[in-house]
Amino acid sequence: MIDQQEEFKKALGNYPTGVTVVTTFDQENNPVGLTVNSFASVSLEPLLILWSIDKKSKSLGIFTSADQFAVNILASDQAKLCFLFSSKEVDRFTQCEWQRSEKNLPIVKNIASVLECENVQQIEAGDHVILIGKVIHIIHTDKAPLLYHQRSVGEIPKTFYQTN
Ligand SMILES: Cc1cc2nc3c(=O)[nH]c(=O)nc-3n(C[C@H](O)[C@H](O)[C@H](O)COP(=O)(O)O)c2cc1C
Repeated sequence: MIDQQEEFKKALGNYPTGVTVVTTFDQENNPVGLTVNSFASVSLEPLLILWSIDKKSKSLGIFTSADQFAVNILASDQAKLCFLFSSKEVDRFTQCEWQRSEKNLPIVKNIASVLECENVQQIEAGDHVILIGKVIHIIHTDKAPLLYHQRSVGEIPKTFYQTN
């Protein structure tokens, strides 16, 4: 079983993704957020996305009980935020620039895109909980995204071919 888990980690580690910071406010109105690469698009009608949170995550209860959350898609020059929001024992929001959005969510500044979502559905799946968000507001820029691959982050490589 351990061998299977190692193979799983290697296979998934070789599947590049973007990097997001998912944020919300807790019940005391403190901003909360963590680095997430499990984010994926789900549906166009209605607009739905998903991400999954580890049941060991400190912010599990905050996100499962939040009415809404924001998916902040990091830009290629925001690797520091990827590390900041995955580091333990640091005051994440005093070390980055952020603002409260009109939808009342903490939004990281200078981000590539933001999807503000209602927290509409949750599915327990093994050691994670899948959160499904209905997108209620989108902020989009043309900034290049930050990519994650085999425990490294960086920019889109120069050789990159368009699909049909
Ligand atoms: C690139 C990257 C992607 C990550 N993706 C996820 C994820 O999808 N879900 C998750 O629960 N943790 C993910 N993590 C780990 C969390 O960011 C990390 O455990 C964080 O400290 C959890 O914060 P919390 O314990 O304050 O909730 C990721 C970390 C990195 C570096």
